[in-house]
Amino acid sequence: MLPFEALLDVIATSAVSALAVGGLGLAVLRLVRARPMSVQFAVVAVATVCAIVAGIIAITLRMFISSHDRDVALTVVSVAGLVGFGVAVLLGRRLTLANRALVAAVRAESFTAPKQALPAELAELSRELEAAYGRLADAHDREKALEAGRRELVAWVSHDLRTPLAGLRAMAEALEDEVVVDTETVHRYHGRIRAEVDRLTEMVDDLFELSRIHSGTLRLSRQRVGLDDLVAEVVAGAEPLARAKGVHVRGAAARGLPLEVDTAELGRALRNLVVNAIRHTPSDGSVEILGEAGDGRVLVSVADGCGGIPSEDLPRVFDVAFRGESARTPGEGGAGLGLAIARGIVEAHDGEIVVANTGPGCRFTVELPPAVPPQPRGSLSAR
Ligand SMILES: Nc1ncnc2c1ncn2[C@@H]1O[C@H](COP(=O)(O)OP(=O)(O)OP(=O)(O)O)[C@@H](O)[C@H]1O
Ligand SMILES: [Mg+2]
Repeated sequence: MLPFEALLDVIATSAVSALAVGGLGLAVLRLVRARPMSVQFAVVAVATVCAIVAGIIAITLRMFISSHDRDVALTVVSVAGLVGFGVAVLLGRRLTLANRALVAAVRAESFTAPKQALPAELAELSRELEAAYGRLADAHDREKALEAGRRELVAWVSHDLRTPLAGLRAMAEALEDEVVVDTETVHRYHGRIRAEVDRLTEMVDDLFELSRIHSGTLRLSRQRVGLDDLVAEVVAGAEPLARAKGVHVRGAAARGLPLEVDTAELGRALRNLVVNAIRHTPSDGSVEILGEAGDGRVLVSVADGCGGIPSEDLPRVFDVAFRGESARTPGEGGAGLGLAIARGIVEAHDGEIVVANTGPGCRFTVELPPAVPPQPRGSLSAR
C-alpha cells in the first residue's frame, strides 16, 4: 500500500501529464472536426494511450521505478492501445456506413428508412425524417389537388361566364337595334338581363370571397351571438327560396348557447348549406336546421331530402368547382364554390364541417368551438 503522500504525488503527476496530452488531443480533435467520425475516434484512442504512456514515463522518472517494470507496463499499454485504436476505427467505420445509408435514403426519390440496424441517434433521426417526408408528401398532394382544382375552376368559370355574357350581348343588341319592340318581349328581356347580371355578380362575389380565404386575407370581426338567433336568421333568409321551391324549412336550436363568430361570414356559410339543401330537395320535401351542443362543441346541422350524395362524391363535395355531374350545363346550378367557401369560413373559425348521408338525404354538420365564458367582474385578466 502506498503511503498517503506518495499516492498524492502519483495522482498529481499523472493528472498533469494526462491533462497536457488531453489538451493536445483536444487541439488535434479541433483540427480534424470536419473529418470522418472514424478519424476522430482514432484520435480519441491515440490520445488515451498517449496520456497513459506519458503518465507512466513521468511516474518512472519521479519514483525511480526500474526500467524493467516500466518496459513491461509500456508494452501492456501499447498492446491495449493498439486494440483500442482498432476498435475505435471499426466503430467509426460503422458510423460512417450507417450515415452513408441514411444519406442514400434521403437522396432517393422517396425516403425509406435504411434496413440495417442504426445507432440509436441515427435511428431516431431516420424515424423523424420518415415522418417529415410523410408530412411533406401529404402537403405536396394537397397542393397538387388544390392547383388542379384552381386550374379546373378557371376553365369552368370562364366557360360559365362566356355563355351568359353572349346571351346578355345578344339581348342588349336586340334591344338597341329595336329588333324586339313589343312591350312584353322588351320586359322579358329586361328581366332576363337583370337576372343574369345578378347571377354573374354573385359568382364574381363568390370568387372574390374564395380568393380572400385562400390568400389568408379573410379577417373575421367576431362578436357574441346566441346560436338560436343565428339559426333563426338563417331560416328567415331561406324562406323565400323555400316557398318558391315548395320545400318546408324548419329550424330549432338550444337556447342560451353563445358563440363568438363573425356573424356575416358564418351566416354566409350556413346560407350556402341551406340553399344547397333546398335546391336538392324535391318540392314538398323538408329541410331541417338544428343547433345543439355536443362534446364540448357547438353543432349546427342542415339535413335535407336530396336522396343521398353518391358515396364516391362525398369526399369531393367541398372541393373548389366540384358540381357533382361531369357535364356542366351553363346557366344551371352554381359554379361549385358554395361548399368550398363554407368550409373556408368554418375553418377560419377553428371549426370543422362534415357531410354524411342520413335518412331521406344528407346532413352537413358544422362544429364550432363555444364562446369563452365572460370573466367574472373584478377578476384579473392576464396580459
Ligand atoms: N345538400 C346537398 N344535397 C345534395 N348534393 C349536394 C348538396 N350540397 C351540395 N351538393 C353537391 O355538391 C356540389 C357542390 O356544391 P357547392 O355548393 O359547392 O356548389 P354549387 O351549389 O353547385 O354552386 P354554388 O354554391 O357555387 O352556387 C353540388 O353541385 C352538388 O352536386
Ligand atoms: Mg351551392
